[in-house]
Amino acid sequence: MYKVLFAASEALPLIKTGGLGDVAGALPLALAQHQADVRVILPAYREVLAKAGQLVLVSSQIDASLPAVRILEGQLANSNVKLWLVDAPHLFDRDGQPYSDSNGQDWPDNAQRYAVFNQTINAIANDRAKLNWRPDIVHCNDWQTGLAPALLSMEPNRPASVFTIHNMAYQGLFSWQQFVGLGLPKALWAVESMEFYNQISFLKGGIVHSDVINTVSPRYAEEICTKEFGCGMEGILQQRQDRLSGILNGIDYDVWNPRNDRLINRQYDYDTFRFKQQNKVALQKQMGLEIDPNIPMLGIVCRMVEQKGIDLIIDLLPKLSRQRVQFVGLGSGVKTFEEEISRVAERNSAKFAVQIGYNEQLAHQIEAAADIFLMPSRFEPCGLNQMYSLRYGTVPIVHNTGGLANTVTDATKANMRDKIATGFVFNETKLADFERAVTRALNLYQQPRMWKKLVKAGMAQNFSWDISAKAYIELYRKALKYRG
Ligand code: ADP
Ligand code: GLC
Repeated sequence: MYKVLFAASEALPLIKTGGLGDVAGALPLALAQHQADVRVILPAYREVLAKAGQLVLVSSQIDASLPAVRILEGQLANSNVKLWLVDAPHLFDRDGQPYSDSNGQDWPDNAQRYAVFNQTINAIANDRAKLNWRPDIVHCNDWQTGLAPALLSMEPNRPASVFTIHNMAYQGLFSWQQFVGLGLPKALWAVESMEFYNQISFLKGGIVHSDVINTVSPRYAEEICTKEFGCGMEGILQQRQDRLSGILNGIDYDVWNPRNDRLINRQYDYDTFRFKQQNKVALQKQMGLEIDPNIPMLGIVCRMVEQKGIDLIIDLLPKLSRQRVQFVGLGSGVKTFEEEISRVAERNSAKFAVQIGYNEQLAHQIEAAADIFLMPSRFEPCGLNQMYSLRYGTVPIVHNTGGLANTVTDATKANMRDKIATGFVFNETKLADFERAVTRALNLYQQPRMWKKLVKAGMAQNFSWDISAKAYIELYRKALKYRG
């Protein structure tokens, strides 16, 4: 049985800004089902302290270098997985988001916040927090935990380290002055270590120093070794290609399943697929759109940032306004995108409805109501909504990249004949290509028998966490082998 310290900067149901929260909330539980002894470690943000339930102080004296840090112990909901919160009120107990203040500005002390988090991970990993537990594996996720593998690499008799990349575009870059202020070993400021074009990169720490690296889909693992997707780290990744692999994220079918989803108007599954329409009608009413179950409805739920191709959606909408379709969108992100998409929607308020903000229930309602789900992402390490969409019988239209390419099969004639088509895939993130895919989808929608075939193949897909957890256990084996 492996002992795994699973480190992340967000995890559901306590805190989430994106897909990492879904993953860190579900994967540890799935690993525990596979006989791993998993402990999840998170920063004790204000929101987490409020939601975590009963907490016990288990350590108030860690490294001499971490005088003001305490460890609080709790439990992840509906599991027996232990939760350790790194309690440092001056760093984490404040209003706002995990990485940014209420205006969306990065916290100015992020370097220090996540340095302390990583130093604590390292102290626990080497049993210096008096918790009487020493992991075999330290599993880190994204830049916020990228320093830990670097610190670990300097320890004698250390556990093996695994670094999962959820997104190369966020790198945790800080200046020399900030680095000096952290009081970390100077050896980390080196091109063979964490220095990256005259800054310190936490992401690079994870990539260079962990025993194995993985991304959240096989396609993205290939892509990041190229200039186009590598964000400047393609060279290092190519050198470490033997340590790099891709494991597709899973889906929590307890949360995302139209058969028992309590957040939607009418539950359904493949056999009762006709009830899906009631969700469309309910959402049409709720959003003030024309009520007619036969109008095809397109949906999006995403962070409104360039990665997601939100600009393509904004450009597509005026073209759709001439057709008999509806569009429902939910998201938040870059202000200019939020404003533009709202403006286009308001111009056609009988057909388009957009809500800016974060809304868990509306996300479920859109998945259940829409016929077609749009994900024209420029890059997508894995992507979760296309997998939710498949289960909800909401046919995804996706760009041929990353996890989207690994999870959706294009509705070509041959794939339809072989009953393996599940959606529409387009190759170039250009409006013309995207629009062609939307037209193909709307045409097929007019052929109910064919459409049902596509929906059926999608609903039958299984992306359960169980499959991914098995692959992670294998990865842990590989990490221990490389550590030697
Ligand atoms: P990313 O992590 O890049 O944002 P993913 O597809 O992996 O993309 O995960 C995004 C997650 O966040 C999904 O569970 C999605 O439903 C959810 N989400 C994104 N935006 C919103 C929003 N505005 N309201 C509710 N849920 C959202
Ligand atoms: C990142 C990626 C997304 C992925 C998620 C969870 O935020 O952008 O594609 O699904 O992490 O791994």
